[in-house]
Amino acid sequence: MIGKATRLARLFRADGRAVVIALDHGQFKGSMPGLETIPEIVRCVVDGGADGVILNPGALEAAAPAYAGRCALIVRVTGARTDANPEFDYHRQILSVEQAVSLGADAVIAMGFLGSASEAPSLALVAEIAGSCRRWGVPLVAEMLIADPSKFNDVASIALGARVAYELGADVVKVYGAGEASFADIPKSSPLPVLVAGGAKSADPAEMARQAVERGAAGVAFGRTVFGAPNPMNVVKSLVSAVHGKGG
Ligand code: 5RP
Repeated sequence: MIGKATRLARLFRADGRAVVIALDHGQFKGSMPGLETIPEIVRCVVDGGADGVILNPGALEAAAPAYAGRCALIVRVTGARTDANPEFDYHRQILSVEQAVSLGADAVIAMGFLGSASEAPSLALVAEIAGSCRRWGVPLVAEMLIADPSKFNDVASIALGARVAYELGADVVKVYGAGEASFADIPKSSPLPVLVAGGAKSADPAEMARQAVERGAAGVAFGRTVFGAPNPMNVVKSLVSAVHGKGG
């Protein structure tokens, strides 16, 4: 397990916490304000002190000069579904763990969906990717979502996803739920470090991050509330202070 431990130490600081910025939305939603030029936004969040970035495989070549040696790289290995598809469908594997290693990944991220007819193949895929991650010594971040978007912030569903990720062999779990009064239930439901996603927009992302770590999260994996802000670098700086403390 030394491969996983070495790579995890590039993502989580000595305090066991991490500020991760998700910049992978283009695979699902196309270009978005703030994500037009991936190398530019990567440079901006790295300069702000992010510990890790989540990117799709196709963005790496251009963005590497901005993150390499400065910040951990989490490569998304599932997807193959866009907002153009009105029907729910679970994500398929788009990149092998071996290929992610060859691209320099410090970790990979895969999405798992609970609560639909395709729950079984979705969770089987997370388990299969977890097996490849064990073989290659690469940490798996499992992003566990409930298929019904109206339940994204449902605490019982989030806690179930966090536990399932652990049982299937993930190393870190990414969930929605920041700001929920009962968020404390989620870290309790799973021994894995929990990173909290940000959602569309928050008036005060740093306060969301502060509440999440206070209630047991290991940090954040915020996307839109960072790259959609007028000054993403300042938002990242505020997240670093909230998650790692003032001296962070
Ligand atoms: C892309 C993703 C992101 O990685 C993330 O889950 C979304 O983060 P945020 O809600 O903070 O924008 O899944 O679609």
